[in-house]
Amino acid sequence: MSSPYLMLNVVEITHETADAATIHLERPDRQPVACEPGQFLTLILPCGPGGKKERRAYSLSSTPSEAPRLSVTVKRVTGGLVSNYLLDTVKVGQQLEVMAPLGNFTLKTSPQAARSIVLVGAGSGITPLMSILKAVVRDEPRSHVLLVYGNRTEESVIFRQQLQQLENQAGGRLQVEHVFSQPSSPTSGHRHTGRLNRTMLLRILEQRHQFPAQQAEYYLCGPEGMMTEARAALDLLGVPAARIQRESFVAAAETIEAAAGQPNGHGDVSDAADDKITARTVTIHYEGAEYELEVKPSQTILEAALDQDIDLPYSCQAGLCTACRGKCLSGKVHLDEREGLSDSEMKQGYVLLCVGHPVTDDVVIEVD
Ligand SMILES: Cc1cc2nc3c(=O)[nH]c(=O)nc-3n(C[C@H](O)[C@H](O)[C@H](O)COP(=O)(O)OP(=O)(O)OC[C@H]3O[C@@H](n4cnc5c(N)ncnc54)[C@H](O)[C@@H]3O)c2cc1C
Ligand code: FES
Repeated sequence: MSSPYLMLNVVEITHETADAATIHLERPDRQPVACEPGQFLTLILPCGPGGKKERRAYSLSSTPSEAPRLSVTVKRVTGGLVSNYLLDTVKVGQQLEVMAPLGNFTLKTSPQAARSIVLVGAGSGITPLMSILKAVVRDEPRSHVLLVYGNRTEESVIFRQQLQQLENQAGGRLQVEHVFSQPSSPTSGHRHTGRLNRTMLLRILEQRHQFPAQQAEYYLCGPEGMMTEARAALDLLGVPAARIQRESFVAAAETIEAAAGQPNGHGDVSDAADDKITARTVTIHYEGAEYELEVKPSQTILEAALDQDIDLPYSCQAGLCTACRGKCLSGKVHLDEREGLSDSEMKQGYVLLCVGHPVTDDVVIEVD
């Protein structure tokens, strides 16, 4: 298996807004890096205390057709370690260490497809949606895309001009509806005033007849509150859960219910409060090798592996990005958080090592 780690050159930086920039990256040999629209890169940067390497996930705002370029768009988080480091210090010509693209918030384009795709995002949540949007507009001439994009003001809209240009060129196949909570000028037409909440989304969707609610495919990415509101609107419209995909950049305040009672053929995954988390041994299969790990009750399985210098893939360390995903082959694993896993992945025994603890003595996990 090839290494998941890459060194990429910063080839260009585009300033998008006062607090967001796109960093364009390429391999030094300009070979393309395999990726899917909506995936993310993990940047590994020596900006922690004492030069410690920190990892953060950044969604690709580029599409595979822009190869050999991979672009990530970073928005400043007040007091945030990595976003400020990237925006304040990274320069063209510098090399950055990254983990190859990962993630399941993706859309596979097909030139024959004729579908309606609704993207709902706010703030930096536009990044994976931009990648998906560009890929569909370019590769699916019979599909329609509606982007509902929430921001505070016109000035805080990332990709404002690019979106306008794409909309002009798409011959009606792309519609962008901007929602501003504090617009600096009066809004009308495809610009709305207010919060991007359930009522706003219902109002916009109900007017768009090319996007029949129950048949469209939905991609949501933004703050937790916006995604909860969007989900409530889609529930009211009777949209089946299987048609909705979501990506979170920040861990939710509360742990989401994990599926329990797995069928035979793999281990169990649970979030039950009465799971007994004690020191246990876990077996990990990774890249053809087998490792036995002692996991203390205060550690996650990933932390135990890293303590023992087992170089497993990881990124967010918060159960969001799935970089550390493994399959539980036997035994039972407790998850503190499962935002990054779908119900069907849970049912198939998938676990996230960065939020996983063994609760039986026979846990075997395969990491791919
Ligand atoms: C799958 C995935 C894709 C992502 N894609 C992008 C992207 O395309 N563009 C982008 O800018 N970011 C993206 N992020 C978020 C990014 O990984 C970092 O979390 C973000 O840049 C903050 O890192 P930091 O080191 O600056 O802040 P930290 O030092 O880690 O955090 C500082 C404080 O800010 C809070 N915080 C962290 N992230 C956010 C946030 N996004 N909004 C508000 N508060 C926050 C933390 O809880 C903490 O209190 C993504 C995250 C994930 C999991
Ligand atoms: S490292 Fe992101 S889910 Fe575990």
